[in-house]
Amino acid sequence: AAIISYDWNIGFVSAAPDGVSRQVIGINGQWPLPVIEGTAGDTVTINITNSLGNQSTGLHFHGINQKGTPFMDGPSAVSQCPVPPGSSFTYTFQLDEPGTYWYHSHSNGQYPDGLRGPLIVHDPNDPYAGQYDEEIILTTSDWYHDEVGTLIQQLLNTSNTGFNPPIPDSLLLNDTQAAKFHFTPGKTYKVRIISMAAFASTLFQFGGHQMQIIEVDGSYTQIATADQIRVAPAQRYTVLIKALATTDLNYAFLVALDINRDFTNVSASVFPHNITGYIVYDESKAYPSFPVEVDTWAPADDVTFQSQSGQSLLASPTKEITLNFTFGIDSQGVPRSYFNNITYVAQKVPSLFTAFTTGSSNTNPLVYGTVNPFVVESGDIVQIVVNNNDAAIHPFHLHGHQFQVLERPASGSGAFDGHNIAFLGAPMQRDTVTVNANSYVVLRFQANNPGVWLFHCHIEWHVIMGLAATIIEAPESLAGGTIPSDHQSVCNAQKIPLAGNAAG
Ligand code: C2O
Repeated sequence: AAIISYDWNIGFVSAAPDGVSRQVIGINGQWPLPVIEGTAGDTVTINITNSLGNQSTGLHFHGINQKGTPFMDGPSAVSQCPVPPGSSFTYTFQLDEPGTYWYHSHSNGQYPDGLRGPLIVHDPNDPYAGQYDEEIILTTSDWYHDEVGTLIQQLLNTSNTGFNPPIPDSLLLNDTQAAKFHFTPGKTYKVRIISMAAFASTLFQFGGHQMQIIEVDGSYTQIATADQIRVAPAQRYTVLIKALATTDLNYAFLVALDINRDFTNVSASVFPHNITGYIVYDESKAYPSFPVEVDTWAPADDVTFQSQSGQSLLASPTKEITLNFTFGIDSQGVPRSYFNNITYVAQKVPSLFTAFTTGSSNTNPLVYGTVNPFVVESGDIVQIVVNNNDAAIHPFHLHGHQFQVLERPASGSGAFDGHNIAFLGAPMQRDTVTVNANSYVVLRFQANNPGVWLFHCHIEWHVIMGLAATIIEAPESLAGGTIPSDHQSVCNAQKIPLAGNAAG
């Protein structure tokens, strides 16, 4: 296995991906950002230097489970202190599982300013080897013309009593508005679709070509054929697309922001809501203008997919966590979001270091403060139920695991009634799942990865509003853990205490 090293200077550069120039967060003076790429078993080390001048930062490697390295997971105030301007920090971790991932800032709501990119882990034992000829990465992202700091001020303003997140100004494909893929007749393409969006889900339909889904969020599926998919923020779908045998046409594909379900108060004319990419067989032929609109979106349902991992339905839960999600106004008049009437407030001491340094009291949720802490024991079968009391779809993400998705009924189904769950076959595993409006989702995973892991809505604006919980996994094996020296210097530079107890 190889060691793959990157040396990244993180700082502002200007870019105009949709024609409007703005400051974005680049790496080594460039934007779009580089792809992190390796093979399962490789070790990655990324030395970052924060040259943002006035903002702290930190990176999260979304979907990488960080087995044995929970302090490399990245979220500020959870598994590290933020890296202040002028400081450096080195992330080192193993690429355990092959698949399609991404990295992004997990500090200050920062990734919509551009600090996000693909992370690809190749598979030396690819079960689909031989069934495709070439690989393509296709990122999708909503995009804003204002910087995150400005958008957060609007979001958390006491006048925002409708809890409205900022509305994106445009939609990007591969950080441009003109994605084009050249296909050769007879070949099959493996397309890794990655949503790096902050808010809006995107719908995909390839004119004249079907998708065969083979992987979601780093987990192989048995082939599921689809004409349309819906990719929520942070989700990934890897699909095989077979080129046609004839070359007498070029084809368009449509990518649309999911206006009806994400933007309950916004009319379609407010912003450019879809863009067209092209599958090009012959540059000399015309590009079709269809499908510019799609009449009906009926995307494939990931809960019906069968996993290829061979892991059948996990046994009855030994630990149940129910999260009732609502919006509300706090005592200061600020719009917030809540799990079980508690809004997440980042603590001074990173929660993982609290688990390391509070001895046997680290099994007591009270030591972690207002982070919605849930303690699970090593080996527990953990069932998480999210009851969504909002009228829109939300994507929920768990760090440290690929959970099984057991049940996700239609919008309007109300709260989960606690019934026993039966599932035929092997439930889909992924790390980010949507829950329908006024409905629920049921997830299960086995506690086999000691650490402190966030569970949160991946709409970045809702993270900022406090829609997060913290899973304290196997605290008995975290007690007495050593805080690596790189972490100590970053915390010390900001006078953030390394040890402690949020309550005391
Ligand atoms: Cu994409 Cu908390 O992460």
